[in-house]
Amino acid sequence: MTVLDHATTRRTHNGAIKLDSVTMEFKTRDGKGIRAVENTSVEIPSGQFVSVLGPSGCGKSTLLRVIAGLVTPTAGAVAIGGEKVSGPSRKVGIAFQSPVLFPWYTVAQNIAMPAKLDKRRSNDGLRERVEELLDMVKLSALGDKYPSELSGGMRQRVAIARSLITDPDVILMDEPFGALDAITREHMNDELLSIWSQSGATVFFITHDISEAAYMSDRVLVMSPRPGRVIADIQVDLPRPRTERTRGTPEFAALAADMRQYISH
Ligand SMILES: Nc1ncnc2c1ncn2[C@@H]1O[C@H](COP(=O)(O)OP(=O)(O)OP(=O)(O)O)[C@@H](O)[C@H]1O
Ligand SMILES: [Mg+2]
Repeated sequence: MTVLDHATTRRTHNGAIKLDSVTMEFKTRDGKGIRAVENTSVEIPSGQFVSVLGPSGCGKSTLLRVIAGLVTPTAGAVAIGGEKVSGPSRKVGIAFQSPVLFPWYTVAQNIAMPAKLDKRRSNDGLRERVEELLDMVKLSALGDKYPSELSGGMRQRVAIARSLITDPDVILMDEPFGALDAITREHMNDELLSIWSQSGATVFFITHDISEAAYMSDRVLVMSPRPGRVIADIQVDLPRPRTERTRGTPEFAALAADMRQYISH
């Protein structure tokens, strides 16, 4: 049995995300307001793989934190699976831009943590699932290490494995592969696509990499410079499964060029 067999036998997902006129304004220390996200409305059907592209500081991480229920928007509302988001939810797995690991727990304990915290779930087979995820992120020999003993890219992979351990309805990932070398990054791209296609989860994936966005997604949202708004909503109809050959097709090049045009303006 794989991680995903456990998942699919447990339940089906309802990971539709609805952002309704979301504005997020932060108060700075001098009392002024910084508007990070402006009047953004997006509907993401359950199971869609959506990437978000946009210049640094345009509000991508802020939008992710709003969806995660970690910050309350100044205006507007977010719903997941038809339920209003009013705080962090066990339906959502998150891989943050900088991995946040507990230094006093081993790699394997860090990955298992969200499942252990969820008292409603049965943790039969948890050890086995941790092993499978460790294998997926190519860290199978390192389950007993502590985060301080790992490289930055390895820590990032631990955080990715941890975001998947509860088989969430929604997976929020903030530039998860930014710290990885090119080969590991392509491996992780394919592993994430395989997990996604079998699990049925909705993925909200922030990246700076246009090719990565085109390769992974059903749909790419491009955000404007701050205050962030969605300025392009690009459908990616490339056939799946995506493979190395996908990157060489004219359709792929055309999509990437389309995305680039919005980013450079
Ligand atoms: N807690 C906060 N308090 C004040 N300002 C904030 C806070 N969080 C974010 N901001 C501001 O909101 C804007 C958007 O930040 P955000 O982190 O969402 O950008 P981003 O698109 O994720 O950028 P990057 O690509 O560099 O990660 C920035 O101007 C940032 O300084
Ligand atoms: Mg960010």
